[in-house]
Amino acid sequence: MRVFVTRPIPESGIRMLVDAFGEQSVVVSPNDRVITREELLAGVKGVDALLPILTDTIDAAVMDAAGPQLKIMANYAVGYNNVDVAEATKRGIAVTNTPGVLTETTADLAWSLLMTAARRLGEGERYLRAGRWESWGPQLLLGVDVHGKTLGVYGLGRIGRAMARRGRGFDMRVIYHDAARAREDVERELNAEFVDKPTLLAESDFISIHVPLLSETKYAFGEREFKAMKKTAVLVNSARGPVIDEAALAQALRDGEIFAAGLDVYEDEPAIHPELLKCENAVMAPHLGSATRETRAKMAEMAAGNIVAFFKNGRPENCVNPEVLRPA
Ligand code: DGY
Repeated sequence: MRVFVTRPIPESGIRMLVDAFGEQSVVVSPNDRVITREELLAGVKGVDALLPILTDTIDAAVMDAAGPQLKIMANYAVGYNNVDVAEATKRGIAVTNTPGVLTETTADLAWSLLMTAARRLGEGERYLRAGRWESWGPQLLLGVDVHGKTLGVYGLGRIGRAMARRGRGFDMRVIYHDAARAREDVERELNAEFVDKPTLLAESDFISIHVPLLSETKYAFGEREFKAMKKTAVLVNSARGPVIDEAALAQALRDGEIFAAGLDVYEDEPAIHPELLKCENAVMAPHLGSATRETRAKMAEMAAGNIVAFFKNGRPENCVNPEVLRPA
């Protein structure tokens, strides 16, 4: 039995694997950086289970390098666009993710970006630290109000719903768009109204993106969408970078098509579009959505728990391709 973890994760997760399979069976890549392709292909050789993180591309070549005994890949993230799930399914390999445990933490971060962008706190801090602050001013660094405005949630999954609840706390009208309408009780609980995408774009003061990255959601926000938004609107993205056309966003921020953006994710991480870096009205974090001590530990335990459960009873809790599991 061999498990390979592609980057050091919180100790509680590693401990679970060691307790279940023994010290000799668990190999953790020693470097706290993105594993190189060569290291990944070498590291997976002969493993029964793989615990990758969202920066690892897990494709057919990786599965080939591992060999036919590979049975489970437990992604350390809720998003799993880095894993070729169709290929894994074809080979009967289970793929799991870490849903739920990071919902509130990621919504907290999205909300922070929304507030920071609306109130120009990034700009304000840069201004202060540069020694440029001379006095309180009636027109100094004016932002836009958040409370009482309209929040548009694009994608009403777990994190989108958590964001909607935060909006309710600020007395906001909450509207949402998703590929499918939510159940009536969900809409009622959140007091959220389903609208089509053009209405979401036209009526929202704040739009927060919470869709997974799929071929249908790639570049869901581009030039056309920015032109359809309010000039005072703030766009927040804590989902996946390629949902936004970054070049078009930089242009919209520069031309005043929208007021500001709060971003945690990027098209080609860790590279950021150079024009975006020039925009004072873009607040940017380095993909920190789930980055709290508590949540990252829970993610480690969940990913490890999926591997342990798979070998114990064949039923990892968070399998995204359950068709490969043997019937209960
Ligand atoms: C995820 O789990 O998909 C998040 O992006 C991690 O922060």
